[in-house]
Amino acid sequence: MHVQVGIIGAGPAGLLLARMLHLQGISCAIIESRSRAYAEGRVRAGLLEQGSVDLITQTGMGERLHKEALVHDGIELIFNGERHRIDMHELTGRRVYIYGQQEAVKDMIAINLAAGVPIYFEAEAHKLEGIDGTKPTIRYRYQGKEDTLTCDYVAGCDGFHGICRDAIPPSLFKGHDRIYPFGWLGIMAEAKPTCDELLYCRHDRGFALFTMRSETVSRCYLQVPPDENADDWSDDRIWNEFDIRLGRHEGLTLSTGKITLKGVTAMRSYVAEPMQYGRMFIAGDAAHIVPPTGAKGMNLAIADIYVLAHALTAFYKQNDGSRLERYGETCLRRVWRAQHFSWWMTSMLHIMPDGSAFDHRRQLAELYAVATSRAGQTLLAENYVGLPFED
Ligand code: FAD
Ligand code: DHB
Repeated sequence: MHVQVGIIGAGPAGLLLARMLHLQGISCAIIESRSRAYAEGRVRAGLLEQGSVDLITQTGMGERLHKEALVHDGIELIFNGERHRIDMHELTGRRVYIYGQQEAVKDMIAINLAAGVPIYFEAEAHKLEGIDGTKPTIRYRYQGKEDTLTCDYVAGCDGFHGICRDAIPPSLFKGHDRIYPFGWLGIMAEAKPTCDELLYCRHDRGFALFTMRSETVSRCYLQVPPDENADDWSDDRIWNEFDIRLGRHEGLTLSTGKITLKGVTAMRSYVAEPMQYGRMFIAGDAAHIVPPTGAKGMNLAIADIYVLAHALTAFYKQNDGSRLERYGETCLRRVWRAQHFSWWMTSMLHIMPDGSAFDHRRQLAELYAVATSRAGQTLLAENYVGLPFED
């Protein structure tokens, strides 16, 4: 089979790219190693920036999102026994949306398939050939057979553990990596949200985040050691720890319920440079990872695709390849801003295992500087709701 753009990976990045190319009449196909059920059931991120929602809406994939998403104007920072609200809408004019990544993925899969975009599930790409020439080939295994997809361009949307990033020659490649000395224990629970806005709590015992998926489902996270075993956490122990880290506040009571899912996620910052080689472009988690504290992972993947889809469209429709040449450079400006923000939120709100009394006091002073000054709040809010897309 031959298409103009061969896409590896049916996560948010690959699916959005397929949709945007299809709307421009550019042919593409997606090779995805997992089954459709697995891709649709994978619980991950949940917060979409206004710009991500606008793009999903413009590409005709926002109908269910607009019915079901919870729209948030602000967040709260809780530290030193105090609550501080940041009114993001008042400060920036923008909002954020809570809509589970797997719900967005379900919508995107259904809409792409209905439009006739081929998605090969349970097809594992194992080799790229000719990406430094003019006729790249993706080799993959599908239904027990070896197959090939030839294309003009390869979009590596295959996540952090995919094969595309490794196709960049080591002599041209640099991976910037930071591993954090803690992880997050994440739970999903049949419990109404503790608060109708997200609560980011810095407590001497560690960070806690209270978020949600609907008016009856809570999604909450606890800072834990990176090698923690989720099975060591009974439901009682989990709720007790959330109760302590939330603290006592007028009008705020921990809401508990049946825990339906729990798991530990490692925390890492990573940037691959460059994000392109020959006729291959990498996007989303294939190119960068952020610690989840700033809720940027899925949004960065969407922002990369905004740049890549417009660059491919300029090439095919106006014979202008200059945007493709600048793809990585354009994306990396935003990626590094998001890396800084994610690192900043993480280091401001988590307890460093080797932190001294000085570090703890300095951290509280930083939180007061942000939460009690309009300038500080604005810096946080502008980054949290998402910088404008550029291409
Ligand atoms: P992915 O969603 O990873 O999609 C890549 C796809 O490529 C996958 O479907 C994979 O199966 C496929 N693939 C890989 N290799 C191959 C191959 N060789 N052949 C064919 N297909 C292949 N972000 C937040 O903002 N907040 C969060 O709370 C949050 N929680 C997370 C929890 C976990 C456990 C993880 C792993 C990530 C989390 N993230 C979170 C990050 C966010 O989910 C990602 O940034 C987002 O999924 C990136 O989308 P993507 O399309 O680039 O990659
Ligand atoms: C969610 C996850 C995050 O890491 C975050 O910062 C905000 C929201 C979520 O899963 O809803």
